[in-house]
Amino acid sequence: MKIVVIHGPNLNLLGEREPDVYGKTTLEGLNQKIKTLCDELSVRVRFFQSNHEGDLIDYIHNFRKSADGIIINPGAFTHYSYALRDAISGVALPTVEVHLSDIHNREEFRKISVIKPVCIHQFFGAGVESYLDGVRYLVRHIQSLR
Ligand code: DQA
Repeated sequence: MKIVVIHGPNLNLLGEREPDVYGKTTLEGLNQKIKTLCDELSVRVRFFQSNHEGDLIDYIHNFRKSADGIIINPGAFTHYSYALRDAISGVALPTVEVHLSDIHNREEFRKISVIKPVCIHQFFGAGVESYLDGVRYLVRHIQSLR
């Protein structure tokens, strides 16, 4: 089984960006924790981060034939990127949306996710654990399809 973990805009600054909201773990540290879990689950994982909408879309397209599922934290694109949403629904890979912070208890604009309807689940508000919960959920889902 192979999954891709995609981090959207500004997540390259994890650890130094608003640590009271997003935590002190760096992107590298976060990816390491995800990798450890994937190793335990015997799942192959690839990571990608970009600040550019088109690059995120290209990455999703490129892996449409070789990955079994997607974990994505779309960052602020969550709230308005119909192009990213179309990419996810277009490739028809099971996708889990994750957020470090509790998007439902912050500014009003963060409560809306245009990505959520094309995902199998949304995890939020648990920091790094949101990603780990997302990986466990996605892996169970992919296994259930086999
Ligand atoms: C985020 C929440 C988004 O609203 C924000 O724009 C981010 C990070 C999160 O992980 O909590 O960049 O996706």
